[in-house]
Amino acid sequence: MKGKKGKLIIFEGVEGCGKTTQMQLCCQWLQSLHLPTLMTRQPGGTELGLHLRSLLLNKTDNQPIADRTELLLYAADRCQHVEQLLKPNLLLGKLILSDRYIYSTIAYQGYGRGLDTSLIEQLNTIATQGLASDLTFWLDVDAEVGLNRKRGGGDKFDRIEQEKIDFHHRVQAGYTALAASDPQRIVRIDGSLTQQAVQEHIQAVLKNKLQAWGLITV
Ligand code: TMP
Repeated sequence: MKGKKGKLIIFEGVEGCGKTTQMQLCCQWLQSLHLPTLMTRQPGGTELGLHLRSLLLNKTDNQPIADRTELLLYAADRCQHVEQLLKPNLLLGKLILSDRYIYSTIAYQGYGRGLDTSLIEQLNTIATQGLASDLTFWLDVDAEVGLNRKRGGGDKFDRIEQEKIDFHHRVQAGYTALAASDPQRIVRIDGSLTQQAVQEHIQAVLKNKLQAWGLITV
């Protein structure tokens, strides 16, 4: 992206992997270093995205969403997010932490739903206009462990969380394959460790990156 001064850092993983909490902790840490940081998410990082998020995640028994429709709705959310939020803030030099990005579509709609991955990649390119993440953390947690964590939290499961366990295993297999195919960009973090240990690992990786990007000196 021309004129990009900021960095895009993504947190990915299966349901209940802890990415949202870890992203929040990471944001606090970056702000304590006086780095201009903002947090966002897909789906739902814009006003339109919030509508799309509720269409995508609210359970509608009588009106099932076709797999390709689901794919297009996630792509629409991403397109709006890139245009309205990511690009302008990257031009301003912000560090953007995003809860999910393109890898979610490959893992969930590609591996989970079984949609053609080359079609997904084309749609991702259209939606992002080629805007790639600078770094992606994959919080690796067993799909069942993650779902049990969510269950323990007491929240009602949304439309995707309610999928059969096989679906979640396929999503997890997707992340495993993605991380193996792009180890430069996707950093695996053992998400089964304590919250503090996970955060320490993330900060250690990010500290090296911040130095390499010339954003901190120590
Ligand atoms: P979360 O923000 O709470 O993780 O919920 C988002 C849900 O949407 C989660 O179940 C993963 C799913 N999802 C996809 O299936 N494809 C996508 O491209 C994205 C961004 C999310």
